[in-house]
Amino acid sequence: MSAVVKCGVKSMSYTATTQLFRLDPVDIDVHLIALAADILRGGGLVAFPTETVYGLGANALDEQAVERIFSAKGRPANDPIIVHIASQLQLTDVAEAIPDKALELAVKFWPGPLTLVLKKHRQIAPNISAQRDTVAVRMPDHPVALALLMTAGIPIGAPSANRFARPSPTSAQHVLDDLDGRVDVIFDGGPTDIGVESTVLDLSGAQPLVLRPGGVPLEALRRFLPDVEFRPQYLTEAAETPAGPGMLLKHYAPSADVRLFNGDKARVMQVMLDTALHLLGEGQRIGILAPDDEALSFSERFELDPRVRIVALGSDLPQIAAHLFAGMRELDNASVATILVHGFGLEGLGLAIWDRLVRAASGRVIQVD
Ligand code: TXA
Ligand code: MG
Repeated sequence: MSAVVKCGVKSMSYTATTQLFRLDPVDIDVHLIALAADILRGGGLVAFPTETVYGLGANALDEQAVERIFSAKGRPANDPIIVHIASQLQLTDVAEAIPDKALELAVKFWPGPLTLVLKKHRQIAPNISAQRDTVAVRMPDHPVALALLMTAGIPIGAPSANRFARPSPTSAQHVLDDLDGRVDVIFDGGPTDIGVESTVLDLSGAQPLVLRPGGVPLEALRRFLPDVEFRPQYLTEAAETPAGPGMLLKHYAPSADVRLFNGDKARVMQVMLDTALHLLGEGQRIGILAPDDEALSFSERFELDPRVRIVALGSDLPQIAAHLFAGMRELDNASVATILVHGFGLEGLGLAIWDRLVRAASGRVIQVD
């Protein structure tokens, strides 16, 4: 499992012989954790499971180690990275001028899928924050991540462990597919639980702002932070509109063209079916991401047509979130040209799912009324 890697974004490259270890989250091998903690302290890269998605970790105090993350991912240097900590107590090593509200939220939601953007502590490597004066920080809720953070004894910068603009990894295999030869150690702790990334909440200004909806629903935040706002263009505009500049970043995107439908369920299913038939008529291979009941009726409709690949995502929002990125990767591996999918509302995890789908569709939504 080794390769020489030349990174396209920067002239430097990071080469590693990747070692993959299976770790049982309920009976963690402390020797393996100690080995990986040493690698992190020495400036290496370790990919590990969290409750959301797999992270690609490096010492957040070491600028060169952080540089290796950007290099391994092919990530632009202007996209800042989340710092992970082992306990609420470590927050003061990472951030300064911490508002009481942040402490309250940390007590309430950590460990868990909430990332807080705060004023950055001077000891944090400047490239983690893409030279901003803020830092994003969270305490993950996963025994492997916590064991590693506690043993390493340093804050760990960790973006999702995918190549830039690929769907986030929810299994160790996804990490290996993207980063073999670019990371020293991958810990396999099984598929991740939540499947979409953490909610990013900016508390560094006067107005609390959700920058990215994620594992902690907006409704849950509002109970503690009634004035929190989340205002992307896709919540205010309907129809087939291109989204704002941030949304045009082709994030979380499979290689296939994603057609995202929205509207009344029965009508949407009919339009998806018509679109599928039309694309098949053009000779395309197509993929469909759908909840279990709809996946079943699409399967019955297309029977054993080898040009149609259908992924059943589950029957409720947590299951759909957990299977979304894996579904996109599965359809990419099946070499479909187009993926058809629809939204699942904006309530609870539905908002984070919608956000990832809009990005995967490069901001285009086909509204069906
Ligand atoms: O669930 C997660 O958050 C996963 C796991 C591994 O913890 N991590 C993750 O990291 O999704 P990443 O790098 O893929 O996404 C980090 C997000 C980006 O949208 C980035 O722009 C934002 O957090 N972010 C990081 N630091 C920031 C800062 N100082 N100010 C504003 N946004 C920041
Ligand atoms: Mg990411």
